[in-house]
Amino acid sequence: MSKQLLPIYDKPMIFYPLSTLMLTGLREILLITTPHDQDAFRRLLGDGSQLGIAISYVVQDQPNGLAEALILGEEFLDGDSCALILGDNLFYGPGLGTHLQENTSIEGALIFAYQVSDPSTYGVVEFDGDGKVLSIEEKPLKPKSTYAVPGIYFYDAKAPELARELKPSDRGELEITALNNAYLERGELRVEILSRATTWLDTGTHESLYEAGGLIRTLQHRTGLRIGDVEQIGVNQGWIKEP
Ligand code: G1P
Repeated sequence: MSKQLLPIYDKPMIFYPLSTLMLTGLREILLITTPHDQDAFRRLLGDGSQLGIAISYVVQDQPNGLAEALILGEEFLDGDSCALILGDNLFYGPGLGTHLQENTSIEGALIFAYQVSDPSTYGVVEFDGDGKVLSIEEKPLKPKSTYAVPGIYFYDAKAPELARELKPSDRGELEITALNNAYLERGELRVEILSRATTWLDTGTHESLYEAGGLIRTLQHRTGLRIGDVEQIGVNQGWIKEP
């Protein structure tokens, strides 16, 4: 089954990235799944109206890479800028939604860089002494920095067109890093360092899934507040009434 439907502590993984989009104020969402997982996501989330959002669905037939999302989403986007978030990425931090909100209509692309202990399983940003971005490498054997690229990206209307021009990588995928590099080459990529006050977890491995569950459990127990509660966020945003 799709790992994005597995629970992180007490709710499905997909609720966490969905809640980040909702906190960003985005209400029109395209959910991209494999052909056989789509039904399960539809059962869980439907058309989104119960959360005050509108969810559309599209299928990615083959695992052709993250950048294909922009091509599959071209019709949905209809010339608009967008945010792309990965279904296994969890963000938690003060004012994150409000901060991200500032980027929902941008020129060029905006990505983030986050300090991690082992960057080699991510996209990695190389900076020069003045903080200028020199390169982004996908899963480098010898990372040039400890700054990984989290799975949330903001793109202007050019993204589908640029994605269509990409060549598949050695692992046969249209890499999101290649799209980001295309923006970098055009001088249109902004990389913002995501503060350590924000927690970013990629929950796609057994280890990280387990760690994320523990973190959410600890935070919810301590504060009595729920994290990634999409219904509550819909209410707080004024999009739906208290259920
Ligand atoms: C993907 C991207 C990588 C990014 C990561 C964030 O990797 O290719 O650049 O840093 O997501 O979670 P994946 O998790 O698909 O291996």
